[in-house]
Amino acid sequence: MSAKIISGTETAKAIREELKVQVAELTEKHKLIPGLVTILVGEDPASQSYVSAKNKTAHALGIHSEQVTLPAETSEEELLALVDKYNKADNIHGILVQLPLPKHINEAKVLYTIDPNKDVDGFHPVNVGKMMLGEQCFLPCTPHGCLELLQRAGVETSGAEVVVVGRSNIVGKPVANLMLQKRAGGNSTVTLCHTRTKDMSMHTKRADILVVAAGVANMITADMVKEGVVVIDVGVNRIGMSESGKAILAGDVDFNSVKEKASAITPVPGGVGPMTITMLMKNTVQAAKQLAGLA
Ligand code: GUN
Repeated sequence: MSAKIISGTETAKAIREELKVQVAELTEKHKLIPGLVTILVGEDPASQSYVSAKNKTAHALGIHSEQVTLPAETSEEELLALVDKYNKADNIHGILVQLPLPKHINEAKVLYTIDPNKDVDGFHPVNVGKMMLGEQCFLPCTPHGCLELLQRAGVETSGAEVVVVGRSNIVGKPVANLMLQKRAGGNSTVTLCHTRTKDMSMHTKRADILVVAAGVANMITADMVKEGVVVIDVGVNRIGMSESGKAILAGDVDFNSVKEKASAITPVPGGVGPMTITMLMKNTVQAAKQLAGLA
């Protein structure tokens, strides 16, 4: 059996079409143009490419987008002042500070400074807390994208054994949390594995749905999964460079072997990546509506 490929590219395209209509309506009827600012500190090539993709997508949807790129030596105070400036800017509804930040900047302090009403990444403790409680809030983009992919691919999550590999604040922890919530798209029995898990295979082999966000290229191999598993591969690992200078990407899942056993699987690239960006756009539109009192 070869798995059905769950295309993030296609799913994201469909959601973006819906968003485009919403942005046009907000712009024409309410004179409200959703605005996003992305702030990048330093020159990490992966971060540069993510941020530029976010801005490109925003433009394509009619969202006003500003891209601020700061040198790696930028001080914490300068960055905090910039965040504060955008907290107060009426034409900006979403603020995204690309992570990771240089070591001399306290990441938590920066994230806590973003107005929770403009926190389209869903990283502020107010939004993290609301998510935990199952309240309406900005959901973090990658976990939200994973859930949307499962839902739009018609995967039943209720009662499913879900195994998440990776316990980051950005992906693993929130995915696990969202999948166990008592609502549609949740209701799963969740196991969260990490670097100290004793017998990874014992857990992954039990999974009906396997979500992998470990940051280790090709770590999940066919012998670690059961027949019919649904696999969401969040990994984006740069494993080399093509002759034309483009990064060669690999997921955390050994796609070629695992696809022969899985019932459905996301590819890398073209899986979760485009969904993350699309969920950011969705949050930005939502933020604009809320700040304007339209939601
Ligand atoms: N770095 C890796 N993923 C993300 C993300 O979703 N948001 C931000 N701000 N930084 C990231």
